[in-house]
Amino acid sequence: MKFFIDTANLDQIKEAQELGVLDGVTTNPSLMAKEGITGKDNILKHYVDICNIVDGDVSAEVVATDFEGMVREGEELAELHEQIVVKVPMIKDGVKALKYFSDKGIRTNCTLVFSPGQALLAAKAGATYVSPFLGRLDDISTDGLNLISEIRLIYDNYGFETQILAASIRHTMHVIDCAKIGADVMTGPLSSIDGLLKHPLTDIGLAKFLEDYAKGNS
Ligand code: G3P
Repeated sequence: MKFFIDTANLDQIKEAQELGVLDGVTTNPSLMAKEGITGKDNILKHYVDICNIVDGDVSAEVVATDFEGMVREGEELAELHEQIVVKVPMIKDGVKALKYFSDKGIRTNCTLVFSPGQALLAAKAGATYVSPFLGRLDDISTDGLNLISEIRLIYDNYGFETQILAASIRHTMHVIDCAKIGADVMTGPLSSIDGLLKHPLTDIGLAKFLEDYAKGNS
């Protein structure tokens, strides 16, 4: 399972990278705005800064909603750095753009996916990644994990190579549940990765080992 971090915060990206388990980064216009990164030139520079911190894929989102605009923006983003994956929304022109990019060998992440049908379309169009937003489904009393299971089943039925990128992860249990279901990738906040570390018995056990070591060496 690949671990991506879902942020545009460079300090958090560095921290996750230093842990040694980071496989990539996802961003979106909201995450950029949260870091105060605005204006096209600043946003493009920020993507390059992120690519220079991590070794893996970095999703960069188009903001055009028409086919020609998405193609223009996506090609510009892909030119920025070899690690860039072009993030395209699940709308009709987005599906066309996914197919266009796939035919050109430009890697894509189909975002804002909330149903198995949308995920099937993304795979048919040749998306590299599909991003079902499980937290946002949970927010409206709908089982986000069930969507991941349904997509896994459909993709396995036909051997689609599109990777399931479980997005809108909110906490550690989402990560564990997605791993059980077989999501290829998870993207979440740093806290969802750090949370995997924690167990009180680990802390109690380590304290006891160190205490006993100190006794024997005093
Ligand atoms: O990767 C998608 C993600 O950014 C959405 O997360 O927490 O805003 O639902 P959230």
